[in-house]
Amino acid sequence: MSVADAVISHYARADIAPRILAALAEVAGPDTPVSAEALAPLDHFHSRGVAATEALCRLLDPQPGEAVLDIGCGIGGPARWIAARTGCLVTGVDLTPDFVAAATALAAATGQSGTARFLEGSALALPVPDAAFVRAYSQNVVMNIADKAAVYAEARRVLRPGGVLALSNLTSGPAGPPAYPLPWAAGPETSFLSTPEATRAELEAAGFAILAFHDVSAEIVAFNQALRASGRPRLGMGVLVGEAIVERQRNSARGLAEGRLCAIEVLARRR
Ligand SMILES: C[S@@+](CC[C@H](N)C(=O)[O-])C[C@H]1O[C@@H](n2cnc3c(N)ncnc32)[C@H](O)[C@@H]1O
Repeated sequence: MSVADAVISHYARADIAPRILAALAEVAGPDTPVSAEALAPLDHFHSRGVAATEALCRLLDPQPGEAVLDIGCGIGGPARWIAARTGCLVTGVDLTPDFVAAATALAAATGQSGTARFLEGSALALPVPDAAFVRAYSQNVVMNIADKAAVYAEARRVLRPGGVLALSNLTSGPAGPPAYPLPWAAGPETSFLSTPEATRAELEAAGFAILAFHDVSAEIVAFNQALRASGRPRLGMGVLVGEAIVERQRNSARGLAEGRLCAIEVLARRR
């Protein structure tokens, strides 16, 4: 099986949108308006949830009406949230067909079909023209991609000169390899962790100038501790992933706390 097929089968799920909408109605009440904000506990598939998306959005600073690309958009929570918050127009691309179908259905449910659209495709061959975007971002995706040079070259291709790329993802840490399974991979066969230093070098080699580079591991460790203390939320990643999320999130939290994983936020400008 190719890495791409193994990644798709790791994430594939049937009926994602109906399950998410049913969970929201059950917990928040059947008359709760379905909005990007209301769905946020369920559809931001990365460490620290919507708080990480908000931080990335501050860094990226999209403007109303601007074309923004989400590389590896998942089920589209960040795209819908950023479009609603800033008035920009987000195109999300993702490898996993079930996720693109869910992202499209959830955008219809939130009334955002005109401002958040979703396409099936690979970050290594984005189905969009050259220089089509002013800003692009990617959250917790590059860990599934071995060829960092190719993924950053492709991001550069679709950005206009001077356009910016915001990244938020996990890297390896200094304390040795993490335990698997992790939220993005059942094992090391589909997990490709650069170090923070290598990430910086990979971006520069692909033609980006680094504008900001933050280690946000401590914020995520604190977030995970608070989450553990408050118990498993009824509206959380478990609705999307199922019971398997418990062990995956535990390994991710432990990896960060032990220095086996590191979380970074980066802003880079296309030279
Ligand atoms: C952990 S999820 C993050 C989803 C989304 N960025 C978010 O934060 O909610 C990782 C996503 O990366 C996607 N992905 C992995 N490899 C990819 C590739 N080569 N091209 C496009 N998407 C990819 C997966 O399908 C999955 O949706």
